[in-house]
Amino acid sequence: MYREMAKIHIIGVGPGSPDYVTPIARKTVQKAKVVVGAERALNLFQNDIKGEKITLTAKNFQEAVAYAIKQADKGLEVAFLSTGDPCFSGLLRPVLKIVGENADVNVVPGISAIQACAARLKICWDEAELISFHEGVDFQKKKKLAESAKKGKPLIILPDPKAFTPSDIARFLISEGAREETPVFICENLTLDEERVFSSSLTEIMSRNFSGLCVMVVKPP
Ligand SMILES: C[S@@+](CC[C@H](N)C(=O)[O-])C[C@H]1O[C@@H](n2cnc3c(N)ncnc32)[C@H](O)[C@@H]1O
Repeated sequence: MYREMAKIHIIGVGPGSPDYVTPIARKTVQKAKVVVGAERALNLFQNDIKGEKITLTAKNFQEAVAYAIKQADKGLEVAFLSTGDPCFSGLLRPVLKIVGENADVNVVPGISAIQACAARLKICWDEAELISFHEGVDFQKKKKLAESAKKGKPLIILPDPKAFTPSDIARFLISEGAREETPVFICENLTLDEERVFSSSLTEIMSRNFSGLCVMVVKPP
């Protein structure tokens, strides 16, 4: 249902293919007076955007989000486009940080890269450990990763494309005692034409590079 009252909409746009954009996401974008998102996300709505379009980059992120929220304060409907699902390493956290937990924000769920990956590899993700390094790599998260690996559950990981790549993760897990031959899957560019699933082992992943757009799965036998 389209929520009339909320002025701020945070919309999940799926993993990248237009086939994975939901009808409610399109409907909400069509009604917005300001639409904010990365270029890749905006391109999915070329025929839907009627209002002002703001392209988010790493450099203008704070400024662009603050501007859009000001427009919402003036009474305009603002749509933030978030890849995958906004509630998993998406735009929900940074926007709520600015507007506060109790603000009237309408979240439109999207299909996460995690779900696309689980579907591709036929993993029941209620049995997996989900770990994201997208918002930073710290001691606590690395500890959770090492401990989760010891439990023997499948690990579905969003690597940090710069600071903690799949090869860094493989090296780290081996240094923490994981077996070198542990099966690993790297799912790149899910749902896009360039989609590729690379199936390998921890030891082989250590010497390989992958697209920044990837999900890593470690699946102890
Ligand atoms: C900022 S996080 C956003 C995650 C998003 N909120 C979600 O639910 O999928 C971006 C990361 O998601 C993963 N990702 C997003 N789209 C992807 C795709 N089509 N294929 C593989 N990984 C993807 C990559 O690890 C990428 O670096």
